Amino acid sequence: VPLKPLNTFGVAATAPTLLRVHDSATLGQALALPEVAGKALLPIGGGSNLLLVDDPQAVVLMIDDASVGIIEHRADHAIVRAGAGLVWHALVMWTLDQGLSGLENLALIPGTAGAAPIQNIGAYGAQAGDFIHAVEAWDRHSGQLQRLSPEQCQFAYRDSVFKQQPDRWIITAIELRLPLLSELRTGYAGIEQEMQAQGVTLPEARDVANAVIAIRQRKLPDPAVLGNAGSFFKNPIVTAEQALALQQDWPQMPLYPAASPEMRKLSAGWLIEQAGWKGARQGDAGVSAEHALVLVNHGAASGAQLLDLARQIAAGVQARFGVAIEPEPRLIGAAW
Ligand code: EPU
Repeated sequence: VPLKPLNTFGVAATAPTLLRVHDSATLGQALALPEVAGKALLPIGGGSNLLLVDDPQAVVLMIDDASVGIIEHRADHAIVRAGAGLVWHALVMWTLDQGLSGLENLALIPGTAGAAPIQNIGAYGAQAGDFIHAVEAWDRHSGQLQRLSPEQCQFAYRDSVFKQQPDRWIITAIELRLPLLSELRTGYAGIEQEMQAQGVTLPEARDVANAVIAIRQRKLPDPAVLGNAGSFFKNPIVTAEQALALQQDWPQMPLYPAASPEMRKLSAGWLIEQAGWKGARQGDAGVSAEHALVLVNHGAASGAQLLDLARQIAAGVQARFGVAIEPEPRLIGAAW
């Protein structure tokens, strides 16, 4: 099975078997098939958060269920259920069409609804985990469908129980708790300015989504045009002490609060640009000239070439700043 069309990096790789499952009701049966039972599984959604360094010796699994609906109406919120295969951005727009808010800052993030909880996708001051009501997932340990509460999902910055235990969970559906009216989060990088530029005076959730879409389209390369997986590195979290010491040497260095008050989040994009990697290219593996956090495939880069470039970038940032940066996408066939 050729995997090039199934990963947004556009890396060529093959897998022995592809299994497409329509919904959670048939997943158990499908996993019991002799050609699947006991084998390694690689669930793929939009393929926008993985780097295929080698051919996966695994059954590639796709869940096609793209259903979406409101399963509970309340005075001030609704519960929306979406099948794992629904495109995330389509879900965001659908919820806005229903008059529900919350997901507007997460517009245009690539990938599927089922992938959203895995790395707890986030952008512009919001993260998916803040709105998750429950995640339905097949548990390969117990051989049963489970319903996980947000606490059980263990959401953190670009992290969850699903990311920690990738061989255990197969997400089949998500449920979101979305307010009918919510406070808009417009404080983050450029959203206010973008809405002003668009002539918005009394912003609604949809205006925030439109602003986010415009900013993302400007800053992030379109995978349909130039292969990439969004941010390739997570923003590193360091102690406040280390952050302060760095800021002495680099007063312009951006600093953000982290989940814990003793820690600070640095901008990996800034560190990489300062270390001289923005726009770099080695063969067809490169660093976006628009955004230093995004690795790009100019055509025929292999996963190994992209990984090699990523390692050089991380070594460069380590040498210059003494800060370790780590990949955000899942690496298949290699360890960081
Ligand atoms: N910066 C540079 N040079 C660059 C890029 C960024 O100096 O080439 C500096 C700038 O100072 C800028 C700051 O980095 O102000 C932050 O940049 P940006 O607002 O683009 O955000 P980010 O921290 O690089 C994170 C997420 C993105 C998300 C944006 C917006 C991570 C790893 N990435 O990027 O998520 O869209 O914030 O909220 O947390 C993704 O995960 O794939 C992704 C695109």
